[in-house]
Amino acid sequence: MILAQLSDPHMRLGEGAAEARESLAAGVDAVLALRPHPDAALVSGDLADTAAPEEYRIVRDALARLPMPVHVLGGNHDDRDALREWFPVAGGAGGAEYRYVTDVGGVRLVVCDSTVPMRPQGRLDVAWLEAQLDAPAVVVAMHHPPFAIGMPALDEIALGAEDTAALAGLLERSPQVLRVICGHTHRAAFTTLGGRGVFTCPGVHLAARLEIGAPDYTIVAEPPAFALHVMLDGTVTTHVQPIER
Ligand SMILES: [Fe+2]
Ligand SMILES: [Fe+2]
Repeated sequence: MILAQLSDPHMRLGEGAAEARESLAAGVDAVLALRPHPDAALVSGDLADTAAPEEYRIVRDALARLPMPVHVLGGNHDDRDALREWFPVAGGAGGAEYRYVTDVGGVRLVVCDSTVPMRPQGRLDVAWLEAQLDAPAVVVAMHHPPFAIGMPALDEIALGAEDTAALAGLLERSPQVLRVICGHTHRAAFTTLGGRGVFTCPGVHLAARLEIGAPDYTIVAEPPAFALHVMLDGTVTTHVQPIER
């Protein structure tokens, strides 16, 4: 299994629109340049910045250049119904969670919806996730990371403590989960939870300055990057690759 992960394109109209478009195009180019091509690509949330339909149209058209299946999930800047309209998946309607299960190179990819409408903080339906884990090898994806990265402004809007504890318990008894992959932080970071590796992907467009303990986060012009998750001998290795522009 080879899964490319792009995160947080934050497509926008008006100010900054050209930069957001160019960043996503560069991310798509970077994935297209990989040999072999990944089995699939995942965009881990905040596809749009204001959830305007035109933002989704631009993202959809940009991702259409990828020849492999492209999966997306919702971030706190997204709208569930807009995602459903522009990136149809089976099941759910009318404000219901945008979540599904798919197969990537023989690994089950469980795409969770960690959003709360109109709120930046995350939550997780751990019972739903548990019901999807009956497979020999699983990667779990969600927008909000279930761990602190040491930057309070971002940690305050991560997955809530209660859901994180429940997820830790579930992961502890689920050795088939080879990786949990997230977005939202606009930085790469890694830890373990319940004995499983948990990763959060850099943004394809905007990067948050690395400042442990800083009360606010600053957007900086660091090179954007994407991740490549590769199954090797029954484990998943995660690469982080800067995107050239
Ligand atoms: Fe974001
Ligand atoms: Fe986010």
